[in-house]
Amino acid sequence: MTIQSPKTLLPYIAPTFARHFKNVPKYRLKLANLPTPLQEVVLNGSSVLQPLRDLDIQLIIKRDDMTAGTELGGNKVRKLEFLLADALDGGYDSVITIGGEQSNHCRATATACRMIGLEPHLILRTGRANEVEANKSQDENDDSFGYVGNILFDRMVGSTIHTCTPGEYGRLGSPALVQSLCDDLESPSCDVGEEEKQKKVYQIPVGGSNGLGTWGYIEAVDEFMHQLDSCDEKIDHVVFASGSGGTAAGISLGLTMAYHQNENMPGLPKIHAVGVCDNPDYFYDTITTIAKDMDIDISSFYEFSEGKIKSDTSIENFVRDHLIVHQGKGRGYASSTAEELDFIIQFAVETGICLDPVYSGKALYQFMKEIEENPDSYRNKRIVFWHTGGSLGNFEKIDALRAKLQSVSTVKRMDVYGRK
Ligand SMILES: Cc1ncc(COP(=O)(O)O)c(C=O)c1O
Repeated sequence: MTIQSPKTLLPYIAPTFARHFKNVPKYRLKLANLPTPLQEVVLNGSSVLQPLRDLDIQLIIKRDDMTAGTELGGNKVRKLEFLLADALDGGYDSVITIGGEQSNHCRATATACRMIGLEPHLILRTGRANEVEANKSQDENDDSFGYVGNILFDRMVGSTIHTCTPGEYGRLGSPALVQSLCDDLESPSCDVGEEEKQKKVYQIPVGGSNGLGTWGYIEAVDEFMHQLDSCDEKIDHVVFASGSGGTAAGISLGLTMAYHQNENMPGLPKIHAVGVCDNPDYFYDTITTIAKDMDIDISSFYEFSEGKIKSDTSIENFVRDHLIVHQGKGRGYASSTAEELDFIIQFAVETGICLDPVYSGKALYQFMKEIEENPDSYRNKRIVFWHTGGSLGNFEKIDALRAKLQSVSTVKRMDVYGRK
């Protein structure tokens, strides 16, 4: 066996069902441990999962929380296999990406960059941006940005973190912020020594969600289809969290094409994205933009008559026809209700599977409500919940989780000498 460097550019051949995309990547890296398992949830004395028992629903988890180690794991590594291959192929030496303070995407990007010898720059949106700056100017050693959750790993791999406020992010938009930092870093006056060569900076959009990153989830669909083939299972619903839209684009477009190609497969499952920010129209628009970026050709999905395609065949309608987006943001992005947090803990107690408060926990909590509100749509069905990772986000919620944690887990002084 030869050990392969993570920098090896592997020529990419797309699965045949994906021939409807004209914009196909040249290369991919191997960064993730694939395939991730499909795991059935055993309903043992469940309370939060009681509706599944009552309705005879089988819940299967696609464990993309297991794609890689803690520092690289979750859904983003699949996208990074394509994005960073492009960065290496283009001869870039640094990468900028952007996200929230506890961004899983930024943490995974920074880690992967270091694995392949690129320099990571993260723009993190934080309500503490001004505070951090003010404290710094008073005391050079002050480090109030902290080390909690994803930030610990961002810092362990030596990322340069550039903070901005939510207001700046909202006003200027993430592409403009990324471009502005890129201009700074590439400018000849930027602290690059004379003998050092000019930086060449690769830009990755928020969540890695563009046409190229989405190939990670086209590949994930191929992996999933092989798993279904080998176990002869019929799936009725596929459910996952959606934030920047790339995962939803890959799973919905990929599954639609894979089932369309494979006549032996029983009917296409219903595909549900649970939006953890914004509103459903934002997701339909974003996914339509991604599909166009991938240069999708949907003509063969519609019948022809008199040389013309029948019915309204816009890409946006195609996306809307094959994906149901649910509103799941609750209190807003990264803000949790007590019920959502209780659900995450109780789910972990009953299944041994840890969700996160920002994405997977919110999405499954919301989808359980959907099942309770529309029981007849789900009775006797088989549902796959695609767990996209994010468990480091729980660290930031420890204060809010504390009471529930104390009620499910006790800590006792052990009677080591048997005196009681
Ligand atoms: C853990 C986790 N799950 C789901 C998502 C949503 O994926 P996407 O941004 O592709 O919609 C993210 C995005 O940051 C994430 O970190």
